[in-house]
Amino acid sequence: MRTRVGIIGGGPAGLLLARLLHREGIDCVVLESRTRAYVEQRQRAGMLEQGTADALRACGAGARLDAEGLVHHGIELRFDGTRHRVDFSRLVGRTVTIYAQTEIVKDLVALQLADGPPLLFEAEAYAIEKPEGSAPRIRFRHEGRERTLDCDWVVGCDGFHGIARGTIPAGLRRTYERDFAYSWLGILAEVPPSSEELVYARGADGFALHSMRSPTVSRLYLQVPNGTDAADWPDERIWDALDARFATGDDWTLRRGPIISKSVTPMRSYVSEPMRYGRLLLAGDAAHIVPPTGAKGLNLAVSDVCLLARAFAHLERTGSEQLLDSYSQLCLERVWQATRFSCDMTTMLHAQPGGGAFEQRLQLARLRRIADSPHAAAELAALYTGLPLGS
Ligand code: FAD
Ligand code: DHB
Repeated sequence: MRTRVGIIGGGPAGLLLARLLHREGIDCVVLESRTRAYVEQRQRAGMLEQGTADALRACGAGARLDAEGLVHHGIELRFDGTRHRVDFSRLVGRTVTIYAQTEIVKDLVALQLADGPPLLFEAEAYAIEKPEGSAPRIRFRHEGRERTLDCDWVVGCDGFHGIARGTIPAGLRRTYERDFAYSWLGILAEVPPSSEELVYARGADGFALHSMRSPTVSRLYLQVPNGTDAADWPDERIWDALDARFATGDDWTLRRGPIISKSVTPMRSYVSEPMRYGRLLLAGDAAHIVPPTGAKGLNLAVSDVCLLARAFAHLERTGSEQLLDSYSQLCLERVWQATRFSCDMTTMLHAQPGGGAFEQRLQLARLRRIADSPHAAAELAALYTGLPLGS
């Protein structure tokens, strides 16, 4: 098998890249190790920056997003029993959209299978050969056979646990990481959201986030210690903890309903540089992970592949690799801004084990500043709704 661009990974990054390349008339093949059902049901992100929603629309995946996505004009910060709205539309003239990653993947898979280039499920890449040369090759297993995909370029969109990043020689790679001492317990509940917008709460004994998936399904997250087993959190315990962390001085109440999914995600920050080695490029979680507070992971994956598709289109039109040469640096500038934002949001809102009273006072001072100063609120709004592509 041969193609111009071999894409490893059929998550949001790989699927969107394939779509964008297809629209530019650039031949590609996507290899995804899991089944279609698995990738379409993996519960993850749900908040889309304006630029992410625009990118999905531009590649033809906007119909259901526009019909079912929930446009939000702000968020609420909750601390010390008080509520403060950050009004994105007023502060920076931008909005965000709530639309689940599962639905984005379903939309992109359906488009790809209808008229796109090949997308192979249960096709696990196990080696990338000669990425430093002009004819890299992917070796993969599919339908019980070992096969090869000869490419001009290989893009690793294979997530944090994929093989692409490790193909770059260790001596040429730098990694930067921070593990936080806590995780998120995330639930999906069949109950209408209790708030019209997302609520980020700094409770006395930890963080809680109220999000949603639709007018009838709520998505909630709770800070828990690392190593937590979701089985140790029966439904009543979860709702009681959420109640305590969202508590306000007014009559706001959290609606309870049947919990249909529970999972625990450790909080981690990780960046691997550079994002290119010869004819191998990395995009999305394959190169970087952010702690989820502020929902940057999926949005970064989308901005990476938008820049990459632009660079490949430039190569096809002009024969110049100039944009591919600057791809890594341009992405990493954006990645570090998002990393900083995610770390700031995380440390401002979570109970810091061993942090003590001084740390708590600093957290409250940072939150108060955002509540009281339009300049501080506008900075949060600009980063939350997303920096323009290429900045
Ligand atoms: P992925 O979605 O990880 O996709 C990579 C794909 O590559 C997978 O389908 C995988 O099966 C495939 N693959 C891996 N290895 C191979 C191989 N060898 N051969 C072929 N295919 C391979 N972000 C938020 O913004 N908010 C959240 O609440 C949030 N929650 C998260 C919860 C969890 C448990 C995780 C893991 C991530 C979460 N994220 C969240 C991050 C967000 O979901 C990711 O940033 C996003 O999925 C990145 O997309 P991606 O396509 O780069 O990687
Ligand atoms: C969601 C996740 C986040 O990490 C976040 O900051 C906002 C929303 C969500 O899954 O809906």
